[in-house]
Amino acid sequence: TRPVIVLGIETSCDDTAAAIVRSDGTILSEVVKGQQSLHEPMGGVVPTLASRGHSEQLPGVICQALAQAQVTVDDLDAIAVTRGPGLPPCLPVGLNAAKTLAAVHGKPLIGVHHMEAHALTARMTSSLRQHPAFPFMTLLISGGHTLLLTVNGVGDYDALATTLDNAVGEAIDKTARALELAWIKGRRGGPGAALEQAALNGSPERYEQLLPMPMLQRNKSTMAFSFSGLKTAVVRLIERDNVLADPQKVSDMASAFQTACIRHIEQKLEIALRNEIKMAGKPISALVVSGGVASNTFFRSRLQSLASSFDIPLVCPPPQLCTDNGAMIAWAGIERLQAGLVDDYTITTLPKWPI
Ligand code: KG4
Ligand code: ZN
Repeated sequence: TRPVIVLGIETSCDDTAAAIVRSDGTILSEVVKGQQSLHEPMGGVVPTLASRGHSEQLPGVICQALAQAQVTVDDLDAIAVTRGPGLPPCLPVGLNAAKTLAAVHGKPLIGVHHMEAHALTARMTSSLRQHPAFPFMTLLISGGHTLLLTVNGVGDYDALATTLDNAVGEAIDKTARALELAWIKGRRGGPGAALEQAALNGSPERYEQLLPMPMLQRNKSTMAFSFSGLKTAVVRLIERDNVLADPQKVSDMASAFQTACIRHIEQKLEIALRNEIKMAGKPISALVVSGGVASNTFFRSRLQSLASSFDIPLVCPPPQLCTDNGAMIAWAGIERLQAGLVDDYTITTLPKWPI
């Protein structure tokens, strides 16, 4: 079959992104404009500011993506856009741009689930195209979600676990803020990247035993994540031990917190992988980990060891494709287009779209 090219547009949170991807997995162009200068002074993402930022930046970002790929809108086979979940004032900026472009140029429009896009990105970036094959297990860890799923096919998911309270990225962001960590200039990932950097100079021992292990006391087979207790304990301990007064303590706390997070994730993943391997159904082909938090090198190496101990491959997209980007939306659009899943020009946003 003839290769197709799709434009992907993403404005669900604080990154304004557009990219053009070909169905053989080649990224023809990729443009991401963050909004660090808008949100860092506010201590986090402010939805109305983010929406304004998208309005200002998106036309230029789309033009740049087309120019870099050396194509025009007429060359595109479809236009894909994040329809949800995401911030209510932000999603319509991308969706309306995509609908108008598609309608004016008579192109198929594809509304994409943001988390589906994080999951399917692994099939664009692995060395074997369209691998991992379905079904695979995926852990999606981002600022808004902590989801463990079995992916049976495009649009066909079994949820295995979600979080009872905060997403892991949310807990990371709150902790980074409580530790007063500055975002790293020119690096994606905002507070999460700052926390990872701080932890490099520390070790977990000083605080490890003082942090609660989420949900360990409860039924050990409970398949749910919980991060709010850990986050609250960290914030309290930061005050009690006067952590901010000593840069070494800050690094040690960052390290202990990251360690507690990954131990909790590992514990749930182990249960899920053990259950999955026991089941007689089609064996899962891989463990895919994606979403902004999956760009963390420490988490990636711990998850690599876990996957190896279960003898299944770990597939993580490269860090810059784990955080929000347009290529993942374009790729999910390609997978949906090839499955015959196209939308009307009348679709609206779905800020709380369940997967
Ligand atoms: O997927 P994403 O870019 O946006 C959402 O869909 O939410 O994920 C953003 C989240 C934020 O919580 C950010 O702090 C976290 O991913 N993050 C990281 C790192 N880079 C981004 N967390 C830990 N370590 C990182 N290197
Ligand atoms: Zn995301």
